[in-house]
Amino acid sequence: MTEETSRYLRWESRYRTAEGEPQPARVLRELDFLLPQQGQALDLACGYGGNALLMAAQGLAVTAWDYAGAAIEDLRERASVRGLPIRAEVRDVCAKPLPSETFDVIVVSFFLDRGLVPAIADALRPGGLLFYETFVREAVGTSGPTNPDFRLMPGELLRLFAELRVIDYREHALFGDTEQGQRDIATLVATRQA
Ligand SMILES: C[S@@+](CC[C@H](N)C(=O)[O-])C[C@H]1O[C@@H](n2cnc3c(N)ncnc32)[C@H](O)[C@@H]1O
Repeated sequence: MTEETSRYLRWESRYRTAEGEPQPARVLRELDFLLPQQGQALDLACGYGGNALLMAAQGLAVTAWDYAGAAIEDLRERASVRGLPIRAEVRDVCAKPLPSETFDVIVVSFFLDRGLVPAIADALRPGGLLFYETFVREAVGTSGPTNPDFRLMPGELLRLFAELRVIDYREHALFGDTEQGQRDIATLVATRQA
């Protein structure tokens, strides 16, 4: 079995056995006023779909993809109960290419595949917004992946998405009073120039 297959099976089994509450990413919760009032949004590698639910509640038509069928089933159920327009689909986002210039908003939280970065930027419509949040290597806490390959190097989100215009970037790393501030994650909001 490949490492990728065993990772997939771990996610599927985690979603089948755990009771999880969808949580929107901090960057989206804190900066949701930047969202457009309408348009097409994507929650990429959505898990339980906290980002998708927030964006749909704000009036966006949301697509949500994850390869774990159990998470997608859960999101479909929640969207239907709340009457929210979310198209939740089982999809391996690394295997199936993203469509070009399709989304007004893309949110990626706690998922990092560097090979997908050009396709994510290209899937934004001109003027579209990317919200990105994931774990950094310079961390205070112990949550998140133990494999450093799945954590960001200092300033890495800025380098990965250098072609986009930065609207907001935060990475407090280990500076100052580490009891305060935004630790363990880096967050980026950026736009594809029109
Ligand atoms: C740490 S979880 C984050 C979920 C969600 N974005 C959040 O912030 O709660 C990572 C997610 O990536 C999904 N994932 C990993 N590789 C994937 C792939 N190749 N295609 C689709 N989903 C993938 C997993 O199933 C899992 O739901």
